[in-house]
Amino acid sequence: MIPENTGPAAVIVLAAGAGTRMKSRTPKILHEIGGRSMVGHALLAARSINPRQLAIVVRHERDLVARHLSELDPAAVIVDQDEIPGTGRAVEVALHALDGEQHLTGTVVVTYGDVPLLSGQLLAELVATHEREANAVTVLTAVLDDATGYGRILRGDDGTVTGIVEHKDASDAQRLIGEVNSGIYAFDAAVLRDALTHVTTDNSQGEKYLTDVLGLARQAGGRVAAVVTADRWQVEGANDRVQLSALGAELNRRIVEAWMRAGVTVVDPTTTWIDSSVTLAEDVRILPNTQLHGATTVARDAVVGPDTTLTDVTIGEGAKVVRTHGSGAIIGPDAAVGPFTYLRPGTVLGESGKIGAFYETKNVTIGRGSKLSHLGYAGDAEIGEDTNIGCGNITANYDGEKKHRTVIGSGVRTGSNTVFVAPVTVGDGAYSGAGAVIRKDVPAGALALTVAAQSNTEGWVAANRPGTRSAELAQAATPDSSSTPASTEEGNQ
Ligand code: UD1
Ligand code: CA
Repeated sequence: MIPENTGPAAVIVLAAGAGTRMKSRTPKILHEIGGRSMVGHALLAARSINPRQLAIVVRHERDLVARHLSELDPAAVIVDQDEIPGTGRAVEVALHALDGEQHLTGTVVVTYGDVPLLSGQLLAELVATHEREANAVTVLTAVLDDATGYGRILRGDDGTVTGIVEHKDASDAQRLIGEVNSGIYAFDAAVLRDALTHVTTDNSQGEKYLTDVLGLARQAGGRVAAVVTADRWQVEGANDRVQLSALGAELNRRIVEAWMRAGVTVVDPTTTWIDSSVTLAEDVRILPNTQLHGATTVARDAVVGPDTTLTDVTIGEGAKVVRTHGSGAIIGPDAAVGPFTYLRPGTVLGESGKIGAFYETKNVTIGRGSKLSHLGYAGDAEIGEDTNIGCGNITANYDGEKKHRTVIGSGVRTGSNTVFVAPVTVGDGAYSGAGAVIRKDVPAGALALTVAAQSNTEGWVAANRPGTRSAELAQAATPDSSSTPASTEEGNQ
């Protein structure tokens, strides 16, 4: 008897197939839904039942797939399938690789790398039934309206499972059966090992069928049973991009629904896309057309959207992020971002700070209460607390070869269209005038001006644009205007 808290002896994930219907240079199981590769989902489900060993069988695009797998799950054993085709052969080579000095004993679970919605919970249920009933084989099945292409579950008069017949090998009568093989099973290791030595390639596809193990196990006197799931999505594979998007939409529907049940308001679930890796707190509000990806986390009472795409962004309590495209950013509590804002990696906005409309930020730390309200670029910079950056300010951080830093203190007020030519430092409490080009450090409390004289040439329009609407309006505004242009010069500001 296996103690309750111990997982199965092994999970074997089959992933050697070519997946030609994806029509892709990317191996099928590396295609993503919900921000994670299909095989990534499969490995998470497999790991969640705590197997003592986890093997994954590869062949097609072997090196690409193996590299991805060793990043996701370095402890997984990567097994190469040989020339002999078929799911039975795939499991046979995996079993051989896992059998050490001593053969594996206990439960061996087989799943696929391209069935991304399978949950660890359903796998655990399969294993629990298998072990409780002391079965030789327990197969996960589903009843489908259209079972075309699937292996069909054969049952005796008493309802017990007697075997599986592949669609291509099935009689017309067998093809009417709606109960299908998901390809996911729990086996007794010894039964599986023994039966596989008797499986041949004598069938319409010339493959070693894993499905033949059921009939063989029964002949050997073992109990074969099925767990029927009512949730067909959990056993559905993605063979082409149409199925991939359908599975992606269903996964998203489930993720969004789970967050709503956990206390998140999602105004429009159909236009809200949340990766399985995202974390949301209670009383977060997500407005329509919002995509949250990667390691994004949103704290309580924050409002995100509409029309916002965030990847690896951390949002503090009560912050508001509207119509924003961002990645690798940290937004402090009660801060405000948007609309039409582009946050690039390394953006850190302090508590109650603001990055407003048409701003691009990168690699910038903005202190508490500081505001960059409209039209500008802040990159490679540090801005203190309670500073107000005027409209249209730019950190000119790039000299064509290197990036340089701009350091702006606390309590600073900058005039519209100030340009900071980095490297440059502005002290606490300093001011700058409109259009200032800051090339030299500004001491604390100073006013920085770069003043170019303004010249007005009077009567210029009448002389140079006669007969235009401008000339006509200018004349009406200055009834005694002389026809001779006159210049005046004066400093502005
Ligand atoms: C298989 C089952 C079928 C079941 C269906 C569910 C067999 C003989 N048939 O059929 O009863 O209804 O899955 O989807 O098992 N693979 C390998 N090595 C191989 C062949 C396949 O690793 O040599 C992997 C594939 O990558 C895939 C999985 O096994 O992940 C299933 O292979 P596939 O060719 O799609 O099997 P089906 O013919 O659909
Ligand atoms: Ca298939």
